[in-house]
Amino acid sequence: MRLYDFRSDTVTIPTPLMRQAMAQAEVGDDVYGEDPTVNRLEARSAELLGKEDALFVTSGTMGNLLAVLAVCERGAEAIMGRQGHTFLHEAGGVSVLGGVCMHTIPNQPDGSLALEDLQGALRNPNDFHEPISRMVILENTQNACGGMPLEPEYCGSVAAFARQHGLTLHIDGARIFNAAVALGVPAAELVRSADSVTFCLSKGLCAPVGSVLCGSREMIDKARRLRKMLGGGMRQAGILAAAGIVALDHMIARLADDHQRARRLADALLEVRGLRIDKGTPYTNMVYLALEPTVNHNAAEIVSLLAQQGVLIGDTGERTFRLVTHNDVDDEAVDTCVKAFSRVMNALM
Ligand SMILES: Cc1ncc(COP(=O)(O)O)c(C=O)c1O
Repeated sequence: MRLYDFRSDTVTIPTPLMRQAMAQAEVGDDVYGEDPTVNRLEARSAELLGKEDALFVTSGTMGNLLAVLAVCERGAEAIMGRQGHTFLHEAGGVSVLGGVCMHTIPNQPDGSLALEDLQGALRNPNDFHEPISRMVILENTQNACGGMPLEPEYCGSVAAFARQHGLTLHIDGARIFNAAVALGVPAAELVRSADSVTFCLSKGLCAPVGSVLCGSREMIDKARRLRKMLGGGMRQAGILAAAGIVALDHMIARLADDHQRARRLADALLEVRGLRIDKGTPYTNMVYLALEPTVNHNAAEIVSLLAQQGVLIGDTGERTFRLVTHNDVDDEAVDTCVKAFSRVMNALM
């Protein structure tokens, strides 16, 4: 039975072009700085994001962690959204490993952090009772707020706020290219005034492994030392970086297809009994659904019934789901998913 996997864009399989590039990759010892393919990926990433330098890392989680550790001393505070991946899903790494406090503020429905809330979260640097505010973290697209892309003007206003108060701005841009494609602007424009950005090669861009942290040369030098400390120095990593270069060269523009399929999927699921979808969504490649109050079953039961029909989706709460479109979700997958949902919901109601 073919499986139709809508759980995440992290499930994507590397493309044939990636496998070919991996097989032929020129490699060296990257801890010595001698892997030409990693060096190429890093140079290309820095250029694409408009930053001085870049570092290939194992994962988005490691990229975000290094960004925080490179800037925040123990006892410092990073301000971030309550729905942010860094707060919710990175095992508390910045606190556990860096002694950095996470100060969370609400995400607005559009995924943004309100400037008033940022202002309210600032600590008094002259009061020794308080931790030291050092960094703001934004997420673009904002995953848990529906895969919402944040506009360049908004990101610029947060960067200006941060600068005014002596803080730095890091952008968790795990899906920054989804945001760029959805908004029709270059990714560099979205991060122009940020100090650093992490983006993932291994999500919608289909590379098997890896993310890239981009920032100033000084910051990346610090992050390189920290990456070694965390055991993230990867030696002949050019085999992985080769797929990353293919991802940047060939997989960005096609994210628009994922966004269109997410829209088609959402429109069709709106017709299914018992499902509710927020108006205006989806924004990029994520469809968030809820069960109507009249449905007497929970999300986990429905996930399990769909899985029996070969359709894999994620439950994000007692009565909510997330479906993600990606390179391995074609039109047939969308149709199959809608039919399976209709069968399951009709049988339950
Ligand atoms: C918004 C966001 N940031 C960071 C990450 C972490 O990426 P990784 O799974 O590569 O550690 C994810 C992963 O899903 C994510 O969705």
